[in-house]
Amino acid sequence: MTRVVVIPGDGIGREVVPPVAEILQVFLPDAKFIQAEAGFGAYERSGTPLPETTLAACQEADAILFGAVTTPPDLPGYRSPILRLRRDLDLFANLRPIRSLPLPTSRSGVDLLIVRENTEGLYSGIEETSADGERATTLRVITGAASRRIAHAAFRLARQRRSHVTVVHKANILRATDGLFRRAVRAVAGDYPDVALDELLVDTAALRLVREPEAFDVLVTTNLFGDILSDLAAAHIGGLGVAASANVGERRGLFEPVHGSAPDIAGQRIANPTATLLAGVLLLRHLGADEAAVRLERAVAATLAAGIQTPDLGGTASTTAVCAAVSAVLEKTFTRSDGSVSCGSDA
Ligand code: NAI
Ligand code: MG
Repeated sequence: MTRVVVIPGDGIGREVVPPVAEILQVFLPDAKFIQAEAGFGAYERSGTPLPETTLAACQEADAILFGAVTTPPDLPGYRSPILRLRRDLDLFANLRPIRSLPLPTSRSGVDLLIVRENTEGLYSGIEETSADGERATTLRVITGAASRRIAHAAFRLARQRRSHVTVVHKANILRATDGLFRRAVRAVAGDYPDVALDELLVDTAALRLVREPEAFDVLVTTNLFGDILSDLAAAHIGGLGVAASANVGERRGLFEPVHGSAPDIAGQRIANPTATLLAGVLLLRHLGADEAAVRLERAVAATLAAGIQTPDLGGTASTTAVCAAVSAVLEKTFTRSDGSVSCGSDA
């Protein structure tokens, strides 16, 4: 049986996740949905941000829907549960699709996917500060195995898209680490002769992503570069309220909005659920429910196009009003007998 673990987390995670989980349950009537706790609230209640029961449920899961967690900056020894989940579940690929939405603030014609290595690079966590506090180092670890693994993921995903991969690096300066990453990706490319490969230095990639995001299909890069470039690219489609990401391993996947717990608006019921709805689209696709994923993505687009938007996008709708509108569009959509999907006449 398919098992989906639902972790609302903290702040607006608790507002955007429950209505989206409800929509997903309609699409996955045979799946078992398991509610679990993580984050600062869990820490305050039980002394740990990632209770053992949550970790165990995630280890048994096929997919995890994760909201957002608050990470207190000055609590010694506190570690974000999302980092621990990514590591313990070996979710080595972070996927950030950036696709135009029917919004005035969204640029049209953008459809790209950033494939970011999620386990090493500058985020390996190996750091040192000298006794006098005047010298600090962070180790940038790149391995051939992790580079080949992320390259295979990028080429496989490109085959389902426009068959074009751009490897982003800084091998002219970071000769050892990015030299290895670049070589590994180029070697893996040999297994995918039907996919075109080109390369960009990360600074040039940043400029081109601002100027002509339409030119990209799949970008594959190391941890820090991917983190920065994916937030940059999200600006093209309407910002944090609409950006979703997937963290995937060999089998399991964790799907989340890119944003955090947004304490400044938590409790006001105005958090934009779009990012979490689109994380739901990625979750459905991961579970092989492709038709459901298409329907949900179209229902989200139709809702936004109809002007049913939260205040961050310039609208006046509440979180629940947006989700209710998406559900209403879904009820109107139907599948034709030939298998093609149609949205209701006003969609
Ligand atoms: P944030 O993403 O929570 O908020 C940044 C700004 O965007 C805020 O003004 C917020 O109101 C707005 N915003 C974010 N999501 C929105 C949504 N769905 N609808 C409308 N407006 C939205 O980032 P911030 O403020 O830097 O961090 C707050 C907390 O979240 C911190 O404790 C941080 O550690 C944590 N965080 C957690 C993440 C995760 O769980 N993966 C990711 C990023 C931050
Ligand atoms: Mg980031």
